[in-house]
Amino acid sequence: MARPYVIDELISAKAIAARIEELARDIRRDFRDTDKLVVVGLLRGSFVFIADLVRELDMPVEVDFLEASSYGNSTESSREVRILKDLRGEIQGRDVLVVEDIVDTGHTLSHVTKLLNTRAPARLATIALLDKPSRREVDVKADYVGFEIPDEFVVGYGIDFAQRNRNLPFIGAVRFTEDA
Ligand code: IMP
Repeated sequence: MARPYVIDELISAKAIAARIEELARDIRRDFRDTDKLVVVGLLRGSFVFIADLVRELDMPVEVDFLEASSYGNSTESSREVRILKDLRGEIQGRDVLVVEDIVDTGHTLSHVTKLLNTRAPARLATIALLDKPSRREVDVKADYVGFEIPDEFVVGYGIDFAQRNRNLPFIGAVRFTEDA
């Protein structure tokens, strides 16, 4: 039986939308010479973020997905990163933007960027909706960050806790009620 918890709103749907508009403006400016940007969503947590982000990017984009796993059905991070689903398209010579939901320990983003760099993209940039710098174990930073957050386990806006709560429109912190 799962431990009972409540979800406290940390970042509202409105605040997320406003920040995505700003991030999209920066990306459009930085990639204005790009013919067609390959936007790579890391499944599954980035699916809502990438959907909103590409609709703010008023430029030609191609969307692809990659699935890597570093988390099981718990709040514990495992160090091992495995590629469960690879890209469909080629990225050699292309400008690529990797879209991550959260950079936590940094293992996932570090592993994925190393892997994609072996395929010789023209340019590889990274964006994370959320960044938990206090949890970092690997020296990695996304080029674009939506929000820095403290060391809290969060859900919503595509992000899950044991495959629940991805459909919340806001970002919330999980608080176990037994501990209260
Ligand atoms: P990292 O490899 O430790 O940086 O972890 C990255 C992945 O762990 C993210 O893409 C998320 O899927 C997951 N993750 C990290 N923090 C949280 C959280 O607070 N809630 C839910 N998933 C998380």
